Amino acid sequence: DTIEKFQATLLDWYDHHKRILPWRQDHDPYHIWVSEIMLQQTQVQTVIPYYLNFMKQFPTVQALAEADEGSLMKAWEGLGYYSRARNLQRAAKQIVNDYHGNWPTTVSGLKELSGIGPYTAGAIASIAFNQPVAAIDGNAFRVFSRLLEIDDDVAKPQTRKIFETVVNQIISKDRPGDFNQAIMDLGASYMTATNYDTNQSPVKAFNQSYRDGIEDQFPVKTKK
Ligand code: ADE
Repeated sequence: DTIEKFQATLLDWYDHHKRILPWRQDHDPYHIWVSEIMLQQTQVQTVIPYYLNFMKQFPTVQALAEADEGSLMKAWEGLGYYSRARNLQRAAKQIVNDYHGNWPTTVSGLKELSGIGPYTAGAIASIAFNQPVAAIDGNAFRVFSRLLEIDDDVAKPQTRKIFETVVNQIISKDRPGDFNQAIMDLGASYMTATNYDTNQSPVKAFNQSYRDGIEDQFPVKTKK
């Protein structure tokens, strides 16, 4: 059916064209988590050297929990939004002290950790723990709104649930983490804010707004 064809097409493209990134070398939740927090407000190319340095200095969640604040802030210098670093250490302490070093593996469990919202919980649950759950960030709003002509206002907080419900139905149950990351890579290539899907795109056959010539109408976003 269409969903299976879409999954197969997307994952085949991902297998051949995915970006090679340092946090894609394994499925360690610590690696996935730190990268996702860094990527929240910072571009991939900027994050890479910070991520590599961070892992050298704080190679484990235990090391991060025990880090002194000065060296943590120093490692974050230039990334900005320092509350992200403070929340990282707070969550590291939660994992070490409250969970005895064991990560929660579900979206609801992950959301108990400091600084982890619905997007990050979905990213960690799918990429590190293979749970078939959506990870909806700005990229995913853009890609799915164009593919499926979803015209709900992405500036409204209640719209996230609508996208999560749709994506939870079409996500690959075998490879949910790769599915979500393939959407991120589409959002960084054929479906950026200023690039619309093109003839070369792997998913153009599934892109309803491309077919209808109205890609520029998505995502729908009212000014707040
Ligand atoms: N942006 C947010 N998460 C990402 C990931 N895992 N890979 C690439 N870009 C991302």
